[in-house]
Formats: sequence, C-alpha cells, structure tokens
Amino acid sequence: MSLVDLPLLPLGKGRDLDAERGVECPGDLPSASDPDLVARAVAAKEALGERVFVLGHHYQRDEVIRFADVTGDSFKLARDAAARPEAAYIVFCGVHFMAESADILTGPEQQVILPDLSAGCSMADMARLRQVEDAWDALADAGIQDSVVPVTYMNSSADIKAFCGRNGGVVCTSSNADVALEWAFDQKPGGDAKVLFLPDQHLGRNTAVLKMGMSLDDCVLWDPLQPNGGLTAEELQGARMILWKGHCSVHGRFTEDVVDELRVKHPGINVIVHPECRHEVVLKADLVGSTEFIIKTIEAAPAGSVWAIGTELNLVKRLADAHPDKSIVFLDRNVCYCSTMNRIDLPHFVWAMENLVAGNVVNRIVVDEDTEREALVALQRMLDLPGRSHRD
Ligand code: 13P
Ligand code: SF4
Repeated sequence: MSLVDLPLLPLGKGRDLDAERGVECPGDLPSASDPDLVARAVAAKEALGERVFVLGHHYQRDEVIRFADVTGDSFKLARDAAARPEAAYIVFCGVHFMAESADILTGPEQQVILPDLSAGCSMADMARLRQVEDAWDALADAGIQDSVVPVTYMNSSADIKAFCGRNGGVVCTSSNADVALEWAFDQKPGGDAKVLFLPDQHLGRNTAVLKMGMSLDDCVLWDPLQPNGGLTAEELQGARMILWKGHCSVHGRFTEDVVDELRVKHPGINVIVHPECRHEVVLKADLVGSTEFIIKTIEAAPAGSVWAIGTELNLVKRLADAHPDKSIVFLDRNVCYCSTMNRIDLPHFVWAMENLVAGNVVNRIVVDEDTEREALVALQRMLDLPGRSHRD
C-alpha cells in the first residue's frame, strides 16, 4: 500500500505537473486593472477567427464565459469538444481534467490550451493512479476483482480514465451516472457485480441509492490513506458499490440545516442541488442534477417561484441575474466559489489568446499517447451509452 504524498503547494507556486493543482503559470499577465482587457479579448478572438474554439464550463466567471463559443456541463463540453475539427486551438475555460478530456477527444492537430495551469480540481487530486492500482490489487486479494467494474467520474485525471479503459470500465458525469452504473452492472451478469466508483463518494452514493434502488448498506467507503482502504475482505465481498473517499470541497459545504432554515423562512421554496452534495443534503432537496439540469430547470420555472440552489456560486449568481422574475438564493451562508475554476480570469484569458495571435501556444495540455488511447476507450463508452445519456 502506498500512502501517496502530495507536496503542499500554494496555488500558483511550485510545480507538480502530475497533480491537478498548484502549478506555476508562466508569463507576463496583463494587469487585472487594465481598462482595455475586454477590448483586447474581443480583438484577439476576432483576429483568431475560426482558428480558435472557446469552451466554457458553467462555473466560469462572467468576465470569461462571455467569450465562450459553447458553454456547458462537463458532459456537454466533452461531447462538443470535437465539434470544430477545423479549429487549430481549443481554449478551455474550465479545469485541468476537462482540458485533458478535450485533448483526448479532439484531433491530433488540434491544440488544447488551459489559460491558467493552476486551474485544477481538488477532487480529481483525491485519486492518484498509484493509489487506485493499490486498491485494485486489494480487490484481487479479496477475491472479487473479476466481478468489479471501475467507473470514474469525469472529474479525474486522464491516467485514472485510462485505468478504467483498460480494466473494462467507463467514465461518467453528473448527468449520466445512473446510465453508466446500469451499463457497468450489465457487464458482469450473474448477480455478484460490483462497481469501484472514483473519485466522488457523494455522486456514487447518491446515484446508487437514489437512482439505482440500492441501500446505504450496499455501499462501502474505500479510504486510500488507510491500509486496505480501511475495509476488511468481508466488507468488500459484501458490497455492491465500493466508493472512493473523495469529495468536492465546494459542494461539501452545503448542509441540511440551511435547507431546514430556508423552508421555514420561505414556505414553498424549491431546493435544487448538484449530486456532488452530501447524501443528507440531497435527501432534503426537491431536485438533484448536473449544472445543465439546474439551468434548464430554472429556465422552465414559473415567474414568482422561489429557489435555493446548491452548486457553485458563479453559476447561481448568473442564474439569479438572468431570472429577475424568480427568487433565487444560494444554499450556503457564506460565499463559496470554486477557487480553481475562478483561476481562469480575464488577464489569463487575454494572455493566452494574445499569445495565440502572436503564434505562441502557451499552457498547452497534452495527454501522452498511451494514456490517451486507453482513456478514449472509457470516454467513448460513456459517449456511446444507450438511451438517456444526457438530459438536454
Ligand atoms: P457538471 O458540469 O458535470 O455538472 O459538474 C460539475 C463540476 O463539478 C465540474 O467540476
Ligand atoms: Fe472540482 Fe468541485 Fe471545483 Fe468542480 S466545483 S472543479 S469538483 S473542486
């Protein structure tokens, strides 16, 4: 067993290119107070024309997402990444694992750029390949590896996706986790199938219990920092879902007591949350779904309706601004942006775009060939999932 050590790196200082965070962003950034930043971004985008395709995740800042050609949740962005094969550059306004997936899903000539290399994801960093391989060996020792299908959330590094690809597994996102789990259980007919779900315990648990009809007792929690995951062979043998002990530090902040408080304050309020929230919070909500699902639900809601939303604050603020006829409140008492999504700001965007205009490709995200081949297997299995693979 290896208790993988993560060097402590303040954001933007030091280099750990294997990690989803804390890498230096080289370059001479324009000042955030430069009054011409918007005009510079517009000019760079115009100069690049069809050569650039800008993708923006819903958690991006307003100042950046306004320049996106396509916005979406992580499933939509993965599906749309390859939509412009003629674009030489794909500027990904999101986080590192999304840019990696875009590199895997686009042509070899297309170059994917992440405007700030320190835009990682703390959840993705909670599962490292060596830890996952140790867990896989432990499943063999417990005599169950043959009945386990690994399923990884999109929020994972490319090498974890490749691990799933070479071990008969699949990638999922928050908008298709149920369909991916159905697929995974179908791969091992005979009744003893199990899933190793990486790295978000909450998405895994919420999907298993609320969508697949399993009980909490069907789930065990694999802690990569404990010998044998902190589990006995009997516990592993008795489980249907082996959940990796990872979580989102943003969605982990939402708590049940705020839901209770809001229901007292605003009778009739609708509570909608992302499935990365803790199970207790999801149980108290009225609706649960991906960022795309949340947006569509609010768009379709009647004027005068009252909503509490449990997801990242940039998106909640944007929804509140776009729907002044509805009352929208944030489900956390405090401000809680995703700090790494927020790393992509206008100075980094302008810097990356102006460099492209000048012919310099900065902050290119490249997945090595072997990893790419195996990760593509798992990503393609997700894109090929039958039936309802996305609620749009
Ligand atoms: P979705 O965009 O798939 O809803 O995921 C949210 C998220 O946490 C991305 O990091
Ligand atoms: Fe990662 Fe959570 Fe930020 Fe999404 S919101 S990028 S899961 S830390």
